[in-house]
Amino acid sequence: MFKSIEFKDDVLILLDQRKLPNVEEYFHCHNLEQVIYSISDMVVRGAPAIGASAAFGVLFAYKESSNYDQFIKKCEDLVNARPTAVNLKWAVERMTVGINSDNFIDKEDLLLQLAIEIYEEDIKINKTMAKYGNELIKKGDKILTHCNTGALATVDYGTALGVIREAHFSGKEIFVYADETRPRLQGARLTAWELIKEGIPSMLLPDGASGILMESGEVNIIFVGADRIALNGDTANKIGTFNLAIVAKYFNIPFYVVAPSSTFDLKMNSGKMIEIEFRNEDEIKTIEGIQIAPKEIRGFNPSFDVTHNELIAGIVTEKGIIYPPFSENIRKVLG
Ligand code: MRU
Repeated sequence: MFKSIEFKDDVLILLDQRKLPNVEEYFHCHNLEQVIYSISDMVVRGAPAIGASAAFGVLFAYKESSNYDQFIKKCEDLVNARPTAVNLKWAVERMTVGINSDNFIDKEDLLLQLAIEIYEEDIKINKTMAKYGNELIKKGDKILTHCNTGALATVDYGTALGVIREAHFSGKEIFVYADETRPRLQGARLTAWELIKEGIPSMLLPDGASGILMESGEVNIIFVGADRIALNGDTANKIGTFNLAIVAKYFNIPFYVVAPSSTFDLKMNSGKMIEIEFRNEDEIKTIEGIQIAPKEIRGFNPSFDVTHNELIAGIVTEKGIIYPPFSENIRKVLG
């Protein structure tokens, strides 16, 4: 099995997700600048994977700083690499919380240990969520998913795709439909790659075909991941998730979000407060560097959208499945 993220001999090694599925190449980060580049350019992507990579980024930030103020400034630059996935901010805060200007020296070992803890914890959390999520799946279910939420988007196993893995390996005889996920094609390039590697029966579809697929009765349940979840359950995830949830509601198909507690931002009362990342319009006007639309046309390219809480049947976390009313139950379950 491949490793999406590895820290070895003081180097953060990332499977370069920009090149998959055609080329399996690793990107080596020797310093903070390379970690920030990897996150913003999407060498590594997916909220938990970004969080785990950022943890090692904080270690580089520390090694490259001669005082506390410099260190904090570098950590801020790291947090700003991508705005929507809260796991980035969460990881940086967890790494830096015990450090201040008075105790700044000799923290390298502690930061390395903390980063390894975040890394290893992610795998355990995903396996726990997979078990809870699998309880929602019946034998023979046909599952629709969006974007990539697998071993590539996390340290290993995945969130929504982790649930799908678990269902497959527990003999549920599932079938998976994967949205291609325009414009970066995480579904086509990454989820399809993981599904094929695992031998999970599956099919790829253009995002726009999910409506007719659901209408045909071919989908029993939907699982997606999340980049930030507000206190009322509103969920930011890859662009197109919101459309999917609306159509699912129309056809009475249960729509589940799978995300670790680190993806919740309880300071945000609703999804309206979540900052949505807008990426370069060339992502939609070109494919692999080839122009597919007139250069002159303007492009609308939000990388995420927010699915309203009333469209969500439940949120699978490592602490259990959270059901509506979310404002009440998120606090109860996450504490
Ligand atoms: O822009 P990306 O590829 O980083 O977006 C990823 C997603 O939206 C995932 O669905 C989300 O991070 C959950 S990953 C386990």
